Amino acid sequence: MKLNIVKNKYNKILSLIAITLCFYGCGINKKRNSQMEVLKMTVEERVDSLLAKMTIAEKVGQMNLYNGFWDVTGPTPEAGSAKLKYEHLRKGWVGAMLSVRGAKNVQEVQRIAVEETRLGIPLLIGFDVIHGYKTLSPIPLAESASWDLKAIESSARVAATEASAAGINWTFAPMVDISRDPRWGRVMEGGGEDPYLGSKIASARVQGFQGNDLADENSIAACAKHFAAYGFSEAGKEYNTVDIGTSTLYNTVLPPFKAAADSGVKTFMNSFNELNGVPVTGSEFLQRDILKGAWNFEGFVVSDWASINELIFWGHAKDKREAAIIASRAGSDLDMEGYVYVRELVKLVEEGVVKESIVDDAVRRILKVKFELGLFDNPYKYCDPVNEEKVIGHKKHHEAVLDVAKKSIVLLKNEGNLLPLKKEGQKIALIGPLAADKNSPLGSWRIASDDNTAVSVLEGMKKYTGNTLTHKKGLDLVVGHTAFIEEVVVNNTNRDGMDEAVETAKSADVVVMVLGEHGFQSGEGRSRTNLDLPGLQQELLEAVFAVNKNIVLVLNNGRPLAIEWAAKNIPTIVEGWQLGTQSGNAIAQVLYGDYNPSGKLPMTFPRNVGQVPIYYNYKSTGRPENTNDNVFWSHYIDVENTPLYPFGHGLSYTTFEYSNFKVHGSEFAIGDEIKVTVDVTNTGNYDGKEVIQLYIRDLHASTTRPVRELKGFELTHFNKGETKTIEFTLTDKELGFFNNQGKYIVEAGDFEVFVGGSSTATLKDSFILKH
Ligand code: BGC
Repeated sequence: MKLNIVKNKYNKILSLIAITLCFYGCGINKKRNSQMEVLKMTVEERVDSLLAKMTIAEKVGQMNLYNGFWDVTGPTPEAGSAKLKYEHLRKGWVGAMLSVRGAKNVQEVQRIAVEETRLGIPLLIGFDVIHGYKTLSPIPLAESASWDLKAIESSARVAATEASAAGINWTFAPMVDISRDPRWGRVMEGGGEDPYLGSKIASARVQGFQGNDLADENSIAACAKHFAAYGFSEAGKEYNTVDIGTSTLYNTVLPPFKAAADSGVKTFMNSFNELNGVPVTGSEFLQRDILKGAWNFEGFVVSDWASINELIFWGHAKDKREAAIIASRAGSDLDMEGYVYVRELVKLVEEGVVKESIVDDAVRRILKVKFELGLFDNPYKYCDPVNEEKVIGHKKHHEAVLDVAKKSIVLLKNEGNLLPLKKEGQKIALIGPLAADKNSPLGSWRIASDDNTAVSVLEGMKKYTGNTLTHKKGLDLVVGHTAFIEEVVVNNTNRDGMDEAVETAKSADVVVMVLGEHGFQSGEGRSRTNLDLPGLQQELLEAVFAVNKNIVLVLNNGRPLAIEWAAKNIPTIVEGWQLGTQSGNAIAQVLYGDYNPSGKLPMTFPRNVGQVPIYYNYKSTGRPENTNDNVFWSHYIDVENTPLYPFGHGLSYTTFEYSNFKVHGSEFAIGDEIKVTVDVTNTGNYDGKEVIQLYIRDLHASTTRPVRELKGFELTHFNKGETKTIEFTLTDKELGFFNNQGKYIVEAGDFEVFVGGSSTATLKDSFILKH
């Protein structure tokens, strides 16, 4: 029965396309043959054929994206607009919707689009599947700490599988914004500070979402966002101005976007910021010249939430009419919840102000993705409630997110080897406002998941029954939420429970303290000026430390924190981020040594907020060192230059020794392949994994180069005592850079190469590159 419905819709669409073929002389009585013809047409031919029969209003309709009727993720330009949206949908003035979810709900809106509009063009159904749909993976920043591209791809696959079962065919991910500023709340959504690592992760996530064929049942279109430079918002303040030079733009910001494009990502989203005076939604330079021009990107660009509208508030467009002109000319193809195109564009085309070819280009791009997703062949392919029930929350998904959660944990410090915990005979006190929290580990951007569904650290640790475990919260981190958009109110006054926790800690062999940020203290709209442990947590930490120094501090947070006191005093620190649904199980397995931690920081941890932005690939300056014993060198007088924990840092329960490092040769010509090898030995008492990292420094260049740049990494498993030779190859791709004209060049000169387990690796060799 259901199959028949599907078939009927399918036939309807085929016949619509077939009607077009009539224009080419097929004749109505040859309809059947023409349907066969349709099947033989390329996607481009099908798009053109459909486009030829669309009115201007229908074309502009394809460029209109409406939010569904709940899950608002931004201010609504026209409140109470559900009735209007339905009207527009029925007229064929809506090309896509977001945040409509659930197979049945999607089927209903899809049915209106397919059955009640003149041309029956199916909708794109977008959703912020940022780190999973219902079964959540770690937040993307955490996942990036795994440096495990396969695990990252699998986690995106799980997300795509669950989201597609719920009717979604398009995710607004991956977010690939490089950022050096942990004050910015959205660092939790990205791959960290480094363009090389960020590019690899971008590709892995695109592959995970889109799979091998976009037409597969569980593949969804991905969206590289936010194009571009949003992560460089001044002072880490949300939605702020960005003013950066060509070198930073090309060498740091753009590479992960390029990697996503090269990996076949179908869509891009532009961003809320302005770049050097031009709001990027109106930037022809970014969208037309670079993305659709130089990179030859064939997908479409969606605006961010009402960002076409925001051209007015930026002071770039006078009114909606002008905003529509600027944004459409600039290459923003789809207007997200802005009501600008749907209101203005038809008139503008009719008046000849906006060329119809601009609209045609946008619509062609949008239709192409719809065809590639197979929506014209079966608009309901994602709308099977029985399948939804079966797929969402599948055991295999829990296994996959647990796997990547374990891999995302970073052991920052383990003095005296307090970890791994013994499995029996210990008295353990588990303390802290996040220890039993089942909500915060879900992190921000988890719209479709249910509250309080994460495994807490308490629950995870309870599975190990050989020890005595006593849990005391000590404090509340927050005292509530404001409004519906989950802004948290931090507890700065209530110390009830603190004495009891300190008392429990006194007699424990080991105290495990779970502190950090609430799940909604990072994410969009959640910039902070202070990177300390929020609220009274530092006070609790110090009070416990005063009675028992055997503390394992487990951090749960969405951004790098400035925990200088803890780094100095607390013997063991575990970065446990916000690890998603399986969080507590992952943390417990690491604490008890059932998983040997292998994560490495994707973002530098500052000593204090005054060092921000702080990142490993900084420039030397003209006065990098204190050579004359005076103050006239590049430094602060109140804190050292080094970070608290550098990019790439992360320990294991075992130890690794690096030896026999060499560049095979000392002089090379531009274009040569340069071989680099190093022996790595597991010298400790556990099997374990290490991320072997390779950095270069181009010592003299026409535009200055960073003191270090990551150019390769290998995540490798070593049995106890095992030695492996790890090989890297450097080519033009790694040795060049973009000059101030945005041109990629490779220059002759002197290079240094470093290999090790973090960005502070000391093993060094060098070579000369000649013309
Ligand atoms: C965010 C985007 C998101 C969109 C839709 C915006 O506020 O910046 O990242 O995809 O909302 O929810």
